[in-house]
Amino acid sequence: MKIFIDTASIEEIKKYLAEGLCDGVTTNPTTFVKAGILDKEKVKERILEIAKLIDPRPLSVEVTSENPEEIISQAREFTNWALNIVVKVTVIDRNGNSLLSAINQLVKEGIIINVTSVMTYNQAILTAKTLANGLQSANAKKPHFISIFAGRIAEEHGVQVAFNAIKNTRDWLDCYQINGVEILIASVRSPENVEYFSRAGGHAITIPPEALAKSLVSAKSKEGVAIFIEDARKSS
Ligand code: G3P
Repeated sequence: MKIFIDTASIEEIKKYLAEGLCDGVTTNPTTFVKAGILDKEKVKERILEIAKLIDPRPLSVEVTSENPEEIISQAREFTNWALNIVVKVTVIDRNGNSLLSAINQLVKEGIIINVTSVMTYNQAILTAKTLANGLQSANAKKPHFISIFAGRIAEEHGVQVAFNAIKNTRDWLDCYQINGVEILIASVRSPENVEYFSRAGGHAITIPPEALAKSLVSAKSKEGVAIFIEDARKSS
């Protein structure tokens, strides 16, 4: 399973590259706000910096429009910035209108897409159909991602519903032998989320640095290390 870091922080990305835990990075407008980057030009500078730092690993960058024509034009612009940029597009707009037509068009042009804000199994399999359709084009590249927002689903319906959305989507992809479409477990909130959702069959999981750091810590490991170090001192 690939691990992506859900952040726009250079320091955090460097830390997890050094630990061999970073297979890619995901961002969205909120991660830039969290990193204190509010100016449009600065956002672009940071995207270029991250893309270079993690190359050839993928960097997901989200479009900032809900309008299909603007989405297509922004996606084309982003992919000119660096070869490893994956364009994030929400599955629907805020009024529930489908954005799958823009997504299909972009896949056919050879742009790699991370379809984001996916909250249900139905959204996931319909998105997978669109991506699979686009992948039939000679120009299409892969893999594309479907970001299932497990944490947000769990907030509304509980962790079991989130787990099932991931697992059932994976079963569907495998059943119909859809290649080039990967499930990205997203919206992860805690080490408990990492432990539970990573067993559901996602191809990748994106984890915020705080949850990733906590996932490595155990009070009993700390206690054990302290005992070993103390006993080693006694014998010297
Ligand atoms: O990939 C982005 C996603 O993980 C963000 O989720 O719920 O924290 O906005 P959320």
